Amino acid sequence: MGAEVVLTVAERAYHGKGDSVQLRNVTENDVDAYIRMRCDPVMMADLGGPLPPELQPDKTRRDAAEAAADTAWIKMVVPDPDTPDVVAGSVTIWSHDIDGGPASEIGWMILPQFQGRGLGKSAARALLEQARDEDRWGVVHAFPATGNAASNGICRSLGFRFVTELDVTFADRVLRSNHWTIDPRTDLQPT
Ligand SMILES: CC(C)(COP(=O)(O)OP(=O)(O)OC[C@H]1O[C@@H](n2cnc3c(N)ncnc32)[C@H](O)[C@@H]1OP(=O)(O)O)[C@@H](O)C(=O)NCCC(=O)NCCS
Repeated sequence: MGAEVVLTVAERAYHGKGDSVQLRNVTENDVDAYIRMRCDPVMMADLGGPLPPELQPDKTRRDAAEAAADTAWIKMVVPDPDTPDVVAGSVTIWSHDIDGGPASEIGWMILPQFQGRGLGKSAARALLEQARDEDRWGVVHAFPATGNAASNGICRSLGFRFVTELDVTFADRVLRSNHWTIDPRTDLQPT
């Protein structure tokens, strides 16, 4: 069964601003997209390796609950509003401890068949525009692996500032990563 698409007024308003990409909250019906994103060795090469498929239904349910409660922004990327069941990936902002204090982090994933079309950048831009306009999340951090050209490309072209290179432990693996930050209220570059 396809995912039910319920867009808030704010999300509808963002359709168009992000180069025609549409974002909607994850729901528990998105488990198939979660498995395709999170259990694929290529997709997860810079994210600690593939995760077990059997854990994804529960992860999808927990993420859907967090998104519905608005404690994290966990959005599915819908490339074409005429086919809302077709999902290209996800973009997320959440809060957790970074260097001993609460901070906001953004992450993005675009499925292989949709990569290289600007969707990752558009989705990240749309979410950061929403953060700016709602004055939510403050300074947002990103930690792409140093060798992840597309992910670092998103940071560079949206106006993130490079902080430093560092080792990040992810799923028991140490990944050499770039630390980028953006304050969406002041740094976000125009399209
Ligand atoms: C990283 C990822 C989200 C990029 O999504 P995408 O939709 O393919 O990226 P875009 O098409 O929006 O491109 C973003 C920028 O990177 C550049 N880029 C894209 N692919 C590239 C590549 N293979 N090499 C170099 N630059 C690349 C684009 O030109 C663009 O920069 P520009 O605006 O200056 O032209 C996608 O590759 C992905 O999901 N990878 C697997 C999961 C992952 O690594 N997530 C990120 C963890 S930090």
